[in-house]
Amino acid sequence: MPLLCVNVDHVATVRQARLGTEPDPVVAAAMCELAGAAGIIMHLREDRRHVQDRDIELIRRTIQTDFHFEMAATEEMQRIALETDPTTVCLVPEKRQELTTEGGLNCIGREKELTEYLAPLHEKGIGSSLFIDADPEQIIAAKNIGAEYVEIHTGHFADATDRDLRKKELSRIIDGIRRCQDLGLKVNLGHGLNYLNILDFADVPGICEYSIGHSIMARAIMVGLDRAVRDMVELVRTFAD
Ligand code: PXP
Repeated sequence: MPLLCVNVDHVATVRQARLGTEPDPVVAAAMCELAGAAGIIMHLREDRRHVQDRDIELIRRTIQTDFHFEMAATEEMQRIALETDPTTVCLVPEKRQELTTEGGLNCIGREKELTEYLAPLHEKGIGSSLFIDADPEQIIAAKNIGAEYVEIHTGHFADATDRDLRKKELSRIIDGIRRCQDLGLKVNLGHGLNYLNILDFADVPGICEYSIGHSIMARAIMVGLDRAVRDMVELVRTFAD
C-alpha cells in the first residue's frame, strides 16, 4: 500500500512570516502522525527561509514515524544530517531565488561526486533518495549513484494547464516509474500533488510514498490539519499496491 508522508515546511513559513514561535511545525508533525501520516518531511534550506535548525533537532527527537530530511548536497547539510540521523535524506537542487524546488537534481556526470557524498550517510545507516525528473538518463545515473529511492518530480505535471501537455507529462512520469522499478529503484512521488491530480496515479502500482506539503497545508487552513491529513491518507490508501 502506498504511504503518505507530509511535508510541514509551510507551517514554518507561516511562523517565519512574523519571525515568532507559532505555528510550530514540530507540533504540526505530531498532529500529522496522529492523523495517519507515515512520515514527516522537512527541507532545511540554506537560506533558512522556513524550517530552522531547531525544528530539525526537535522533530528528530519527538516524531514516532519516519523522518525524511530534504537537503541540498552541501557540506553543511551533510554535517547536519550526520548529527540528526534522519530515516532518509532526499537530495534536492536548491536555488536562492526560487519560490520552491523548480526541478529535479542533475545526477548525470555527478555519479562519483554524489556517491562519495552519500557514503558517510549510508555508513551511518541513513537511507537516501534522489529527487529527479522522470528522464531516462537521470534515472540511470541515479541507479549508478546507489541511492535506494528516487523521488520523481511531479511538479511539471501538476503545473501543466494545457490538457495535452498534462497528458504528456503524466505519461513521462509513468514511464519513468516503470523504468526505475525495472532497475530495482524504489519510487516515491512528490511536488505539486493535490487531492485531485493525485488521482491520476491511483492505478499505478509500486509507488512507495507520496511526499505532499502545500496542498495539505492549504486545506488545513480551511478545515483543520487533522482533517486535511486524514483526507489525503484515506485517498492514498485506496491506490494500487
Ligand atoms: N518533494 C520535494 C523534493 C520538494 O522539494 C517538495 C517541496 O518542498 C515537495 C516534495 C512537496 O511539494 P508540495 O509542497 O508542492 O506538495
